[in-house]
Amino acid sequence: WPRTSGRTDGAVTIAGVDVRDLARDYGTPLYVVDEDDFRSRCRDYKAAFDGGHVYYAGKAFLCREVARWVDQEGLGLDVCSSGELAVALSVGFPPERIALHGNNKSYAELEAALRAGVGRVVVDSFDEIARVGYLAEKLDVRAQVQIRVTTGVEAHTHEFIATAHDDQKFGLSLNSGAAAEAVRRVLALPQLELVGLHSHIGSQIFDTAGFEVAARRLAMLLTQVKEEHGVVLPELDLGGGYGIAYVRGDDPPDIKVVADSLREIVARVCDDAGLPVPSLTVEPGRAIAGPAGVTLYEVGTIKDVEGLRSYVSVDGGMSDNLRTALYGAEYTCVLASRASDAPGVLSRVVGKHCESGDIVVRDAWLPEDLALGDLLALPATGAYCRSLANNYNYLPKPAVVAVRDGVSRVIVHRENEDDLLRGQV
Ligand code: LLP
Repeated sequence: WPRTSGRTDGAVTIAGVDVRDLARDYGTPLYVVDEDDFRSRCRDYKAAFDGGHVYYAGKAFLCREVARWVDQEGLGLDVCSSGELAVALSVGFPPERIALHGNNKSYAELEAALRAGVGRVVVDSFDEIARVGYLAEKLDVRAQVQIRVTTGVEAHTHEFIATAHDDQKFGLSLNSGAAAEAVRRVLALPQLELVGLHSHIGSQIFDTAGFEVAARRLAMLLTQVKEEHGVVLPELDLGGGYGIAYVRGDDPPDIKVVADSLREIVARVCDDAGLPVPSLTVEPGRAIAGPAGVTLYEVGTIKDVEGLRSYVSVDGGMSDNLRTALYGAEYTCVLASRASDAPGVLSRVVGKHCESGDIVVRDAWLPEDLALGDLLALPATGAYCRSLANNYNYLPKPAVVAVRDGVSRVIVHRENEDDLLRGQV
């Protein structure tokens, strides 16, 4: 839950705003973002990685207003397409604090980024190194690049979001020597300035040992670069991936502790090799946006399947939250519009899409007196829900509302049928 949530008269409040008012004023489903919570998590990361840089990973959730918050909090921004870049530039986000990611950046995306003057291009393949080199020469700019290294770490998370083992599409392998070859190729191109090495081992990670192994391996590659080329690289970027609590019992890492331990590991390797200690960069997305967001739904039908469970259908589903269908993600939800002392009933909260896998919360204990029109709230839905939202079955995407100090305002409008028809002949 966001740090400011509570209950008043039995109804859930977020930043002092009653969810019944939110549903009445903006409709449901509704994404609610607690602005102070989001900003305070930005500050926590900035403080923990003092002396380095924090880039908020926009893929978790980006819109123009969020880009403004990230800018005002002094963070950088990780974008991975020219669309995300356009959102950032449209609100005057300083380009030198933007890093461009992706395993298949097009010429057009790279050109847009170099013309805008982005601060970092994180190169992910030999093809891309040649592509950025060509474009930097054509545009007569010097591009600051990091090399994305596949460190061979097995992150303990869902297969689809683990990214540091060799058999997946991202990065250049440390084990095979591809990363060292990438260093050679970048250093051979005068229009590229190699500023550091990058690693992102995966997402929703609780066991921080993986980050530590990756940090040690990257630091060792730094020392190798110094020995082979006489070049001292000033930055190590350890990516994002810090897990958050979705259900009771989840135990997310304390970011201060993680930061201290990563700094110590990198410093030890570099001291031993007589190298200056590089600055540490991280790219949290979920850990900033996730806990700040709550989704509100209205209950539309309740069906008791004799002897099994109660199926509670809400007015959204896999179009506004794909994570359960895609990763088997776990969520909890609560009756949010009133208090109830009724005993709990084993329930499955499902969406309104034409698929039986359209599950919002697999197992929820909801009160026996749950009724049509009640509001359900799902905490920890601020990351990878709106950004993965889609129009399956022609459902319009819900609005996003920011709440702060008892006041709510729309930051992304709800789609309507005109939006759904736009672009069609
Ligand atoms: N940096 C890079 C290079 C990334 O690829 C990602 C996430 C991040 C940072 C931010 O990771 P975070 O701190 O948010 O874990 N849709 C999936 C997550 C995909 C993550 C993709 N890359 C989900 O809903 O769990």
